[in-house]
Amino acid sequence: MSDLRVGLLGAGNIGTVHLQSTRGIDGASVVAAADVVPDNRARAEKQGVPRTYEDYTDLLAEEDLDAAIVALPPFLHAEATVAAAEAGCHVFVEKPFARTVEEGQRMLDAAEANDVSLGVDHTIRYQPEVQTLKEQYDAGRIGHVPLASIARINNGPFAAPPARQPVSGWMLDPDATGGGALMDLGVHLFDVLEHFFGELTVEYAHVDASMDLPYEDSALVVVSTEAGTQATVSAGFFQWETPPEITGYFRLEGVADTLRSEDHLPKQFMAHAAKSALENVSKRARGQEPAYFKPTYYYQAHYRALKDFLDAVAAGEEPPVNGAAGLRMVEHVQTAYEMAEGTRAAANAGANVEVTDD
Ligand SMILES: NC(=O)c1ccc[n+]([C@@H]2O[C@H](COP(=O)([O-])OP(=O)(O)OC[C@H]3O[C@@H](n4cnc5c(N)ncnc54)[C@H](O)[C@@H]3O)[C@@H](O)[C@H]2O)c1
Repeated sequence: MSDLRVGLLGAGNIGTVHLQSTRGIDGASVVAAADVVPDNRARAEKQGVPRTYEDYTDLLAEEDLDAAIVALPPFLHAEATVAAAEAGCHVFVEKPFARTVEEGQRMLDAAEANDVSLGVDHTIRYQPEVQTLKEQYDAGRIGHVPLASIARINNGPFAAPPARQPVSGWMLDPDATGGGALMDLGVHLFDVLEHFFGELTVEYAHVDASMDLPYEDSALVVVSTEAGTQATVSAGFFQWETPPEITGYFRLEGVADTLRSEDHLPKQFMAHAAKSALENVSKRARGQEPAYFKPTYYYQAHYRALKDFLDAVAAGEEPPVNGAAGLRMVEHVQTAYEMAEGTRAAANAGANVEVTDD
């Protein structure tokens, strides 16, 4: 069978990761990319993309595609996904799937009307240590899990100093993002919990802000699940992250034992990253293009998520993390924002609530 022809809409940070991933996936290739920033188009071309466009609607009109990757800012996810579906593409959408439930429903309707599938890049479930926990949980190693806790903290819109480039404007605009830390990171965490414990119900939520951001930079949510597990979900935008490590954990308190994600991170974690960095130094010295996104530990998850989607498309099957799942996670965030009504950050996030001074 010939390669799946993929169009990349948005060749920024994560779009470049997907481009790198696709180069390692047999049976698919990125035939065109669109980005409004000329440097980003030039980088995509340098990395082997045959054609680039400034306007993604031109790309969709000109190219004969099987699939599109929407790696645009959240305020463009609905518009671009609907356009790609109408052009007959299966669509892999970055998280958060949409900014609102209404937007997400429009995307699902467009996919159904055009008989295409939607997938979502809920990456954390694909992290190797989380996959190990899933295998052990599914095998019954710790029995029923009454309590679980999951967290992801990073520096949100800010790059760790020294910053190489200014913060993208959309990242500081709550209308463009759809929310703060809970919308950006919480969707990943809700997805992991549903992956393990079935559909979840938001029971309690509180959001707050300690940084000067226009949305919540810390969120705490309590959920119950189909499997009878109660879980806490913590998302934050207040701590510098120093790659190659990321800050987060998943902990399952089972009746027979506890499983911790940290116990399954590779011992040679730093060595692995150092080796990749040295390879890049050597490439630079030889005048070759360094592999900016050479898969270090966490990039594997992006690769696996995209591969799972493309494999499903190639097989004519529903993607494992589909549009309905993407929409459900946005619903959970929206429910949590409504429950957190009255807190300062919820008001900042545009949750349309009264501001209280507590
Ligand atoms: N799954 C994950 O773990 C993960 C990680 C990072 C980012 N993301 C998500 O990916 C999305 C993009 O984030 P990013 O960090 O790559 O942002 P980014 O700003 O680096 O990339 C977005 C790109 O879209 C381009 N763009 C903006 N408007 C456009 C338009 N009208 N037409 C064409 N191109 C346009 C920008 O020039 C930019 O290159 C967000 O939804 C973000 O939440 C997901």
